[in-house]
Amino acid sequence: MSAGPELRVLPGPAEVAAVAAAEVLARAGEAVAARGAFALALSGGSTPRALYALLADRHGPFAARIPWERTQVFFGDERHVPPDHPDSNFRMVREALLAHVPVPAENVHRIRGELPDADGAAAAYERELRAALGEPPALDLVLLGLGEDGHTASLFPGSPALRERERWVVAPWVARLGTRRITLTLPALETARQVLFLVTGAAKSAALRRALREPAGAEPVPASRVRPRGGRLLWLADRAAAASLGPEPGLHRG
Ligand code: 6PG
Repeated sequence: MSAGPELRVLPGPAEVAAVAAAEVLARAGEAVAARGAFALALSGGSTPRALYALLADRHGPFAARIPWERTQVFFGDERHVPPDHPDSNFRMVREALLAHVPVPAENVHRIRGELPDADGAAAAYERELRAALGEPPALDLVLLGLGEDGHTASLFPGSPALRERERWVVAPWVARLGTRRITLTLPALETARQVLFLVTGAAKSAALRRALREPAGAEPVPASRVRPRGGRLLWLADRAAAASLGPEPGLHRG
């Protein structure tokens, strides 16, 4: 069983990015020391941009210390668009991070959102995960964000993808967005050695409360269902996002 979620509340988005970068550096060092490689899954959306920029900053404390040559880069989810599309998570990550650090091209495992067959893209990504990570696909660190409706990766409330227990990657239809998405499933996330959620801004406050303080009997939001078995689950939130959380026994506030 996992140890349960840890929560650190930080003053603002810059501090969230800095603590997240320190987590990436620490997990990378541990993974390379233990297994010779670091398997990192990146999240999309806008929140992690500041983290990626900090990791990539050659004048900052991280870029030169992260073992990029030994880092295998994966994605938690992707939009059903080509890699140069403005909505592409890969494009955002490439522009903010990968274009600036020496990760070998063959270590970057992107989801092929350009394939018309989204199910085929999901199956291909699952094969790629298995080939790179083996069985089960133990990612060392998975970065995740939180949507205002409580979704994470592309696991949206009410989605059949949440019931998936066999496949590691699926391509659910997201009715609210009128599109398919390609996403890791709960079983893939459960095997991670660490999951790190980044949540900033007042607009996420209600979702964060639901993710961490689900009232008994309520339908759990997708983000609250991410529970790495035997791994660490750390939430980093800024004060604005954490504003509606009161003190709670069992949750560590850093
Ligand atoms: C995506 C995501 C998604 C994201 C949340 C939060 O592809 O959009 O992976 O789960 O993390 O929607 O997005 P923001 O950081 O933009 O608020």
